[in-house]
Amino acid sequence: MNQVEAFFDQVITVKWGPDKKSVDIIDQSLLPGTLKRIQLDTAEEIWEAIKKLRVRGAPAIGIMAAFATALLASQIDTEDYGTFAQECREITSYLSSSRPTAVNLFWALNRMQKLIEDSQDLPVADIKDKLFAEAEAIQAEDIAISRHIGETGFSLLSELKEDNKEIGILTHCNAGTLATGKYGTATAPMYMALEHGWPGDAMHVYCDETRPLLQGARLTAFELSQAGIKTTLQCDNMASVLMAQGKIQIVFVGCDRVARNGDAANKIGTNTVAILAKHYGIPFYVCAPSSTIDMATHTGADIPIEMRDPHEVSDMWYKERMTAEEVNIFNPAFDVTDHSLITGIITDRGLCKAPFDEAFTAMGLGLSQ
Ligand code: MRU
Repeated sequence: MNQVEAFFDQVITVKWGPDKKSVDIIDQSLLPGTLKRIQLDTAEEIWEAIKKLRVRGAPAIGIMAAFATALLASQIDTEDYGTFAQECREITSYLSSSRPTAVNLFWALNRMQKLIEDSQDLPVADIKDKLFAEAEAIQAEDIAISRHIGETGFSLLSELKEDNKEIGILTHCNAGTLATGKYGTATAPMYMALEHGWPGDAMHVYCDETRPLLQGARLTAFELSQAGIKTTLQCDNMASVLMAQGKIQIVFVGCDRVARNGDAANKIGTNTVAILAKHYGIPFYVCAPSSTIDMATHTGADIPIEMRDPHEVSDMWYKERMTAEEVNIFNPAFDVTDHSLITGIITDRGLCKAPFDEAFTAMGLGLSQ
């Protein structure tokens, strides 16, 4: 096993615990200092893990929701289909209240729920088996999807490649291994480049720190440097300096929900990066698995944006509170990048260009939930 595969193996976001009696996740809230896996077997523990970002990133939240539904359904003690289906509905409804923005959560829960509804003629024990298999299928599909996104992204990198010159790539938040089944979305082009034999220093990935929860500093910079990719970390407000100095040739970001018109919600600060990229003439790509394209949401204005605890801004990373008690704090977890700022949306079926709704439809992409 090479260095990158060994790392992937170590940080696999979601897997089964022993005998499939729990869901086993790497607790991302402790990274990079502590690599600790935890096993969860109650709905409350799983809800808390999603809410507190122990497991996070849109595709990983979807995988977690699917594993959780299978696990919790397996604990239901009845052979009566009606009782089983009702209890499953309560489980999926509860899990769906954990976070509002990433559409993958609702997509995965709906997919598990649909399987239950389509299986009413089967014994409950068989439905339970099917739910385990469906969760594993969602994870396997996500890994395949990331590879497709990565190959398209890699072809964009190849077009930029000049002999003996590194390609400067900027990314925001963590749309990497830790946010998905394996390769990430925004990081998949870099992992594919390594597979195609590029050395780790052919690319230079500049990771935005990503205030307030530091997913760029704690997660992206960690995973890319572990994979041997040249990595530099900067605070979010330093990106324009890098762009002005000509150090960035391309931007890859992930997304939590893409509306039908191509407006894309992603971690707070992504829109700022897109505006800067436009100003400096740098191509800005959103990497989107089909499970994140929500055709039922017409524009970005319809995407629910999660507001989070002010404590994440005022004192979470400091020894003491860094702002006076009486100061109001604004802490939206996501922003929406207008489709006009997006050069292209890299999907698992290929590269979509504006008008995005037509491109999504032509490629048969997107969820109507
Ligand atoms: O709040 P988080 O850490 O779950 O936010 C994650 C992001 O915004 C990612 O960029 C997005 O989910 C895409 S992950 C492939």
